[in-house]
Amino acid sequence: MANGHPLTNVQQRDINAILHPYTPLHKLAETGPLVMGHGKGVYLYDTQGKAYIEGMSGLWCAGLGFGDEEMIEAANEQMRTLPYYHLFGGKGMEPAIELAEKLKEIAPVPISKVFYTSSGSEANDTQVKLAWYYNNALGRPEKKKIISRVKAYHGVTVMAASLTGLPGNHKGWDLPVDRVLHTDCPHHYRFSLEGESEVEFVARLAKSLKDMIEREGPETIAAFIAEPIMGAGGVIIPPSGYFAAIEPILREHDILIIADEVINGFGRTGNWWGSQSVGMTPTTISVAKQLTAAYAPLGAVLVPEDVYQAYVDHSAQLGSFGHGFTYGGHPVGCALGVKAIEIYQRRNIVEYVRGLTPTFEARLAKVKDHPLVGEVRSCGLVGAVEMVADKATKRSFDPAHGVGSNLAKFLEGHGAILRALGDTIAFCPPMIITEDELNELFNRFELALADTEAFVSKNGLRAQ
Ligand SMILES: Cc1ncc(COP(=O)(O)O)c(C=O)c1O
Repeated sequence: MANGHPLTNVQQRDINAILHPYTPLHKLAETGPLVMGHGKGVYLYDTQGKAYIEGMSGLWCAGLGFGDEEMIEAANEQMRTLPYYHLFGGKGMEPAIELAEKLKEIAPVPISKVFYTSSGSEANDTQVKLAWYYNNALGRPEKKKIISRVKAYHGVTVMAASLTGLPGNHKGWDLPVDRVLHTDCPHHYRFSLEGESEVEFVARLAKSLKDMIEREGPETIAAFIAEPIMGAGGVIIPPSGYFAAIEPILREHDILIIADEVINGFGRTGNWWGSQSVGMTPTTISVAKQLTAAYAPLGAVLVPEDVYQAYVDHSAQLGSFGHGFTYGGHPVGCALGVKAIEIYQRRNIVEYVRGLTPTFEARLAKVKDHPLVGEVRSCGLVGAVEMVADKATKRSFDPAHGVGSNLAKFLEGHGAILRALGDTIAFCPPMIITEDELNELFNRFELALADTEAFVSKNGLRAQ
């Protein structure tokens, strides 16, 4: 049984065969999986034919929605021409070259080389290995620690999950590994002190980072990694001046600045790059997700010339650059990356996102006074509604009550999908969403919010 209904055949087959990521495994048979059949535009249809507005672009990635004919054609064409090849041992192929050229052209800082991976986690894992390789090349074998942040999300491989600053990715997994440090999360609503202004908050965080570097010894710290706007940690937008305050401290100590643009990149925040939206100036960059609009898995690391030259010198000493993935630079993924960027440029996606932003902000602002809502926040077309038990004190609900996940379930009933990050509900609709569709997504969200209020009141979940 799933929610009182017998499981359908496809649900039962799913449960019998799949180990689901990020899922309460003990409850799945009870809740039943939601098995999707097909998608078109911003809509997904489950195997029963029910339609859902996909308000999260899947996992913050399907920026062009579903069933884009140009993307399908680009994949078909590449499949026919060359379905697979690789870049090992100096081999090459046109789509990988073309996409790297494109990325160099649109990058927010001067970039010399592109290293391909299959995912965002692999990109961030690669970033760490490259930072180590770089410091070995420069004869600094002690300079190896990486500073990440509380609430960061950088993926799930052993190192990427260690960089991630969320307890659920560490507890039970023997992580984080050593050489990883976590500094403060720049979320003023949650982490500011009583009466502390944003300016004071930023100054305190910068001081805390400086203290950490001095305590650990700058000669032991290789890199600092940050999402310009944090995604899975709760869509956290740093106060203005945050990166301007911390970057000089990092540069003073020759610490590489890694931008994880895996969610932020390719127009999502109303600029090509999240870095541009928050005034971050990275040394190297990780990309994935909207790189191909999720029509194929692909990630990449972008590095500048001086950093690349150190790899060249070190590979000369060691005989080779000993790193690479079988599917890194997969020609179908790269052809889709080239096509996605061409579409973003031709349809002027950055302007389009900016055009929708006032509606997105207005609809978020409309729910701000709801008794369940503590904070709303957004940048471009990524945003969040944080629910609290007590608006005045910002007290959160007991996580065991699953208020956020209940809202997401109610919302499915109303035909829309958003992601519950604890009790924070994230919004990241396909960037091609129309204004009417965006309004419809929020209409359905408001119904789910009302259902959640009824559920909270009925069960007395506000009690301490
Ligand atoms: C900012 C960020 N970095 C890295 C990752 C990991 O990407 P992947 O799931 O492709 O490994 C994610 C995934 O959500 C992400 O949001």
